Amino acid sequence: MGFGRGKVILLGEHAVVHGYPAIAVGIERGVHAEAAPAKRDLLRLEPWDLALEPDPDGREPLERAFSAILGEYEDRPPLEVRATVELPAGAGLGCSAAIGVAVLDAIDEALGRKRPRAELGDAALVWEEVFHGDPSGVDNAMSAVGGVALFVRGMPLRPIHSNKPLCLVVGYSGESSSTKEMVTSVRRQLESDPERVRNTFAAIETLVHNATHAIGAGDLIALGQLLDLNHTLLASLMLCTTKLDAMCRAAREAGALGAKITGAGGGGCMFALAPKRSEAERIREALGSDAFVAEVSA
Ligand code: PMV
Repeated sequence: MGFGRGKVILLGEHAVVHGYPAIAVGIERGVHAEAAPAKRDLLRLEPWDLALEPDPDGREPLERAFSAILGEYEDRPPLEVRATVELPAGAGLGCSAAIGVAVLDAIDEALGRKRPRAELGDAALVWEEVFHGDPSGVDNAMSAVGGVALFVRGMPLRPIHSNKPLCLVVGYSGESSSTKEMVTSVRRQLESDPERVRNTFAAIETLVHNATHAIGAGDLIALGQLLDLNHTLLASLMLCTTKLDAMCRAAREAGALGAKITGAGGGGCMFALAPKRSEAERIREALGSDAFVAEVSA
């Protein structure tokens, strides 16, 4: 069975597109996929009742992405790939990258090929490029490898180790958003006011740097403060919504050490850092029925 994890970006989204570092974690929710020889190439996506054929010029991005991935294999029989998606799409949890990684993993397995997870993540970039135009690569890398890691565009993931697990509570605003549009909006701001936006990216870089130390030292209080600051900087880039802001406040009032939007913003998900597992439930209740707890070992 092929698998691609979802991910939560702890700090550094958007700046990461422009070469600044980010910290992300892989979560256990993701996409499972199976591939088997068939009469023709077909991709089935279970929860959406979708079945599509690869087409490099197709109108559907999924048709083009599937074609891009199949193009990576020579000498193969036609394959039917069946994927089960456990993540909301357009929600900042890396759903599209997780599908790409799971599909590649399933095809590798069906063809009796095995490669390191990091290489699988790199290979899934062609899939992500179809959806996002200019992805940093953080989603596909984390989807394949997991754990807690520092990511810089074009470089291998650097795992961050700690003896304290991170207990995150992820809440979904119910507002879907397009990563491509959000990344384009930040790029426009960068072009029209380069000094202000570069200063914001540099401030985010400092938060990422300090968060690496906070995670390593198991200092969750410091990490929570850094998350709140990153949330404010993302809001200054107009990536927050009233709903997401209210959810972050509700999480803090329910005992979270910090809370922020995650991923592209403009909708999608936020997450909160719980002081420990036993206190996560109260925060989850404050975030609504879609919220879930993700415990990650660093
Ligand atoms: O919302 P998602 O899961 O697509 O995450 C996007 C993260 C960005 O930093 C906004 C874009 C990127 O390519 O890194």
